[in-house]
Amino acid sequence: MAKKKQKVSKRTKAKAASRKSVRKVVKLAVARKAKSKSNGKSNGLPRPSIKAYGQDGKALTGVRILDFTHVQSGPTCTQLLAWMGADVIKVERPGVGDITRGQLVDVKGADSLYFTMLNHNKRSITIDSKHPQGKRVLDELIKACDVLVENFAPGALDRMGLTWEHIHKLNPRMIVASVKGFGPGPYEDCKVYENVAQCAGGSASTTGFREGPPLVTGAQIGDSGTGLHLALGIMAALYQRNRTGRGQKVLCAMQDGVLNLARVKLRDQQRLAHGPLTEYSQYGEGVPFGVAVPRAGNDSGGGQPGWIVKCKGWENDPDAYLYFITQAPVWNEICDVIGEPTWKNDPDYATPKARLPRLKQIFARIEQFTMTMTKFEAMDLFNKHDIPCGPILSMKEIAEEQSLRATGTVVEVDHPTRGKYLTVGNPIKLSDSPADVRRSPLLGEHTEEILSKVLGYSASQINEIKASGAITAPDKSKAAA
Ligand code: COA
Repeated sequence: MAKKKQKVSKRTKAKAASRKSVRKVVKLAVARKAKSKSNGKSNGLPRPSIKAYGQDGKALTGVRILDFTHVQSGPTCTQLLAWMGADVIKVERPGVGDITRGQLVDVKGADSLYFTMLNHNKRSITIDSKHPQGKRVLDELIKACDVLVENFAPGALDRMGLTWEHIHKLNPRMIVASVKGFGPGPYEDCKVYENVAQCAGGSASTTGFREGPPLVTGAQIGDSGTGLHLALGIMAALYQRNRTGRGQKVLCAMQDGVLNLARVKLRDQQRLAHGPLTEYSQYGEGVPFGVAVPRAGNDSGGGQPGWIVKCKGWENDPDAYLYFITQAPVWNEICDVIGEPTWKNDPDYATPKARLPRLKQIFARIEQFTMTMTKFEAMDLFNKHDIPCGPILSMKEIAEEQSLRATGTVVEVDHPTRGKYLTVGNPIKLSDSPADVRRSPLLGEHTEEILSKVLGYSASQINEIKASGAITAPDKSKAAA
């Protein structure tokens, strides 16, 4: 009996051991499978979240920005970062704030659209950065933030005492990101606004009609364009900091940003050395080229000739136009739709090269056709044949376009002093970090909240700071006395 018991327990032990080793093998197999699915590289990343998309924080959750920006270029950048989840603390001068709060005012007593449309999702704290107590508060904020963004005139940040050395000593992880008009060189000390950058970056000399003066564009490529470049630089610096543990300076000069966007024109400048720019209508018109890239009117920037043509109603509606592209692969369809089927085989029109000297005449014929229909009818018709074109949309039409509302590109926002207004939401759509557009802050709306919740000051300390005059507007009656 005892022997039998012994045998049973031996068998049970053996079975248990084999079950254990089977479990081990299964575990190893699962781990191997998971490893092979991720290509064997985990990169130190956490396991994929099991929360629903859009429910696991935002892309920049945990990143805190000390936002010293004003006007347009810097605020564009920090607004994007805020939409992506960063906590953006906008520092403004007590009683004054960002100058744009009071520029182009449409509703008396309310922050202007200029300000509200560039400062969504931010918090505002007022601090006099030249006041000794204000400087102490700023030092604490520098320690509590990841990125300082500024677009003051050259030297202004240093004059506040916020040199790179000072900031880096307080917080070696801090990224200091700046917009300036020009990079190092003869103009580095100059103040710069949008149109100056468009002119210095090569955009204005290449925009407009050959017969007319240089033109600036409506799109704010100097301000908002540079803000976008800066946001990209900050993201890269944050990513590098994950590895190095230290911050760095990020500089975007507006001239450089504009030139980057006008890159195709520097391409053409070099092509000029090898002969005329055959896709420019000036070539077809027999006008010789000079030493620099000329203004090309509405010529297409690429290898597929395009032009703006009139549509029905153009006599009274300044935007009744269509951009039409004579894309080579659909040339036969274009000929059929506009009623010129013989052009398909006519040696003067059949090839892109043959068409180049005749573009003016070709677009005149296309226009004859598009003038019989509205820009939207033309858009529908040509797109059925895969012919690329686009209606010239007015801002009124864009504001009323329901598909832009549906995607959050145009958003209606409510504001306590100005009421409802339209704004442009985040044009960058992240599937796991959707942007909710919240109204811009009132001047100093979050001063106490930031002092107590971010910096941990007690109520009495906050009262002391207030009494020092570092966070409040100077008393006008006292100043007058
Ligand atoms: N507390 C105390 N002083 C403050 C302050 C605060 N919270 N915030 C700003 N200031 C001070 C600055 O220290 C500076 O004083 P200083 O010249 O005595 O040192 C002053 O306000 C003005 O700053 P500045 O940047 O020179 O403003 P400006 O109105 O004269 O110039 C620009 C505006 C845009 C031309 C200029 O800032 C600039 O060239 N910026 C870089 C390029 C740029 O971004 N341009 C596009 C703007 S959309």
